[in-house]
Amino acid sequence: MLLIPHNSHISTTTMGTKMCRVLGLAIAVLFLATPLASAACNKDDLKALLSFNSSFPPHTLPDWINTEDCCSWAGIHCDDGTGRVTSLLFSNDDFNDFEPIDLVGNMPPSVGDLSELVGIRFSILPNLVGPLPHQLSKLKKLKNISIYNTNLSGPIPSFLSQLPALERLDMSASQFTGSIPPSLGSLAKLRYVDLSENGLTGGVPPSLFSRLDGSALATLSLRQNKLAGAVPRSFASVAFGSIDLHGNRLTGDPRFLFGKSKPATTIYLGQNKLSFDLTDVEYPVANLEYLDIGHNEIYGSISEQIKKATKLTYVDMSYNRLCGRIPSGGSFGNITSRDFSHNKCLCGTPLPPCKK
Ligand SMILES: *[C@@H]1O[C@H](CO)[C@@H](O)[C@H](O)[C@H]1NC(C)=O
Ligand SMILES: *[C@@H]1O[C@H](CO)[C@@H](O)[C@H](O)[C@H]1NC(C)=O
Ligand SMILES: *[C@@H]1O[C@H](CO)[C@@H](O)[C@H](O)[C@H]1NC(C)=O
Ligand SMILES: *[C@@H]1O[C@H](CO)[C@@H](O)[C@H](O)[C@H]1NC(C)=O
Repeated sequence: MLLIPHNSHISTTTMGTKMCRVLGLAIAVLFLATPLASAACNKDDLKALLSFNSSFPPHTLPDWINTEDCCSWAGIHCDDGTGRVTSLLFSNDDFNDFEPIDLVGNMPPSVGDLSELVGIRFSILPNLVGPLPHQLSKLKKLKNISIYNTNLSGPIPSFLSQLPALERLDMSASQFTGSIPPSLGSLAKLRYVDLSENGLTGGVPPSLFSRLDGSALATLSLRQNKLAGAVPRSFASVAFGSIDLHGNRLTGDPRFLFGKSKPATTIYLGQNKLSFDLTDVEYPVANLEYLDIGHNEIYGSISEQIKKATKLTYVDMSYNRLCGRIPSGGSFGNITSRDFSHNKCLCGTPLPPCKK
């Protein structure tokens, strides 16, 4: 942000030539930069922002004053070239660039009139309530939706599938309910979905990531919801960098998520009702760092192949029905956070020794 004093009077008569040159340069830089810094607020964007401003109680957005330069308002980011509003950033976390903010009420429909928006973030806003306005479906350039730690509620709207540019959808730690719309699977660029810590019910849609380019890594977190049914078989062909389904009511056999050449760093399946034989599972050893399959109904034994996962730092296989010797030695024995307790008959370090 360039701050240009309006009434600064610069006199060069008493200054040395060196100082003159430095000042001259500074003035030239300011002069060149001025058209960008003072680009007038686009009138359509301004209209939408004024409507947004008037949706909240007085003093919610104290520095939204000068209508000539809405791009300098807290929470607003504009494209330097076009001067159009490209992001809305209302966040009380480490990323915020303004004083703590409290948005009390609903998300205003006028957000949908900021037609050049690429990203929106509404986070750590406990008094932001109600459903997402359907006017958001007008935002054809939107790539990032980041909404977390709010009291927004209602469904994960199916109109999100009308946002063709969408790459990242984070609607976590809020009060969203209902099922995940299968139409999200029609979004070919969507590769990051975090709907964790809501009250979502129903199944995991098999269509999710089905149109994503196979070389793009997908991230999925549906942690801590009330989802039921099986993990979709179609996920066998999705390149998950990270998949977190911890804390749901999922059943069945998702062994297709494993495989020694998969790219995953993170597989969290704990606290479900999964039931399968672990014996022949091949772990994605190249990148795997976090593996949680605890608190399920998994049986069989743990393959020695897991010892090739040299980046592994966290393993939870507790509270299952596993048996046999826990692989030991090498980097596997060195993993600091690992839990194999409460199984049927696992033995060996860190549990008591196996009987001969
Ligand atoms: C924003 O709304 C407040 C009232 O809440 C008002 O005082 C202020 O002038 C508005 N800002 C603009 C730029 O109109
Ligand atoms: C989208 O979110 C990611 C991760 O938070 C961030 O790196 C990126 O800059 C965001 N893009 C836009 C356009 O907001
Ligand atoms: C939702 O609202 C309740 C009641 O005001 C509050 O205790 C809670 O922290 C809010 N949740 C979030 C995620 O902000
Ligand atoms: C395991 O830890 C020991 C002691 O810290 C270290 O000497 C050894 O190199 C580690 N082994 C592997 C395979 O990482």
